[in-house]
Amino acid sequence: MNKTLRYALIGAGGNAEKKHIQGYKNVLNVEVVAICDVVREKAAQMAERHGVEKVYTDYKEMIQTEQLDLVSIVTPNYLHAEIAIYALQYGVHVHCEKPLSMNAEEARSILRATEQSGSQLMIGLNNRFTNEAVLLKRWIDEDNLGHIYSAKAGWVRRSGIPGRGTWFTNRSLAGGGVMIDLGAHYLDLALYLMGKPEPSFIVGSTHQNFVHTTSRNRNGYKGVEGGIFNVEDSASGYLSLVNGASVAFDFSWASNIEQDRYYVELLGTKGGATLVNGELKLFGEYGGVCMDITPKLKLNPNLKLANEFQHFVDYITHNGQKLIAPAEDGLYLAEIIDAFYQSANEQSPVSFRHSMCVI
Ligand SMILES: NC(=O)c1ccc[n+]([C@@H]2O[C@H](COP(=O)([O-])OP(=O)(O)OC[C@H]3O[C@@H](n4cnc5c(N)ncnc54)[C@H](O)[C@@H]3O)[C@@H](O)[C@H]2O)c1
Repeated sequence: MNKTLRYALIGAGGNAEKKHIQGYKNVLNVEVVAICDVVREKAAQMAERHGVEKVYTDYKEMIQTEQLDLVSIVTPNYLHAEIAIYALQYGVHVHCEKPLSMNAEEARSILRATEQSGSQLMIGLNNRFTNEAVLLKRWIDEDNLGHIYSAKAGWVRRSGIPGRGTWFTNRSLAGGGVMIDLGAHYLDLALYLMGKPEPSFIVGSTHQNFVHTTSRNRNGYKGVEGGIFNVEDSASGYLSLVNGASVAFDFSWASNIEQDRYYVELLGTKGGATLVNGELKLFGEYGGVCMDITPKLKLNPNLKLANEFQHFVDYITHNGQKLIAPAEDGLYLAEIIDAFYQSANEQSPVSFRHSMCVI
């Protein structure tokens, strides 16, 4: 019989409630033993809602006391590296929310701590775990697209600032704006599907067009009166890859568009694919005839090709399979985002390489 893993949650905010606590409560052989938040009431209320016994306000005290096997880090971005490194050094496995870190330097420290500890770290890149993304990844890995030479990726919202004046819009707490928030999902997804190609150069631009508006917050996200907004609310650019491919990307928290759109579009020598607002379509040719395939993934409401939480627990306990969202992918993306910000600041293309990537 498998050992029951002692699990705790660090950060009891929106994403912890929507994703992590539900996710781990439903995994066999995991016991949710404690919740930590600097705001005691948030941790206590979540603990009560989910029948969790222990509540902490200091993650170090919780890790020292509870003999944990696994934690989720669901705090503002500036705390990811500090908490992840502390937990890893204690021999605790870490499921860290995206983005892994504020920048590549922090990501390197996390990667080093992961390698030295022998514990595992997975990034909470839930868009890699959707049925559509899992099926598309398998389709690509079986060479149905051939060489992917061009991609488009984006997430554009009409009114989607995640709380004007909260930590999300404060560079020293978030590391950046929409690029590090939504780019960390959909630029990541495009590059993951393309097989993490070696970067060549990037051209980026950022804009702050909705800083003074209170009307463009995301539904359900409250702003903070007088709070700082010193990050970009839109980001776009072009990433060129050493294998000759490119990715054009476009992210915005707020923009004057008809409707929100999140997408990855891939063009390959043998086939193409689009994943737009959660709908997957595949394109190709057979016997000289162009063909479209629309996978009917929603016909079976119980179909779950991958489960982020079960996958990480299986990886920790059996260690046989490939981790879907490992720490090194966080460094790969952080280097791209760092170069993107450099390009936007300098208004010039930036050439760079990622030494550890698989072409
Ligand atoms: N994967 C996704 O789709 C997704 C969606 C939303 C957010 N996120 C990520 O999740 C993380 C949290 O985002 P959120 O929307 O839940 O933010 P949030 O502001 O709702 O929650 C953050 C929580 O962390 C707590 N906190 C702050 N400092 C702490 C500390 N030292 N110890 C313990 N708790 C502390 C805060 O009090 C707050 O309750 C971010 O990194 C964000 O990028 C991911």
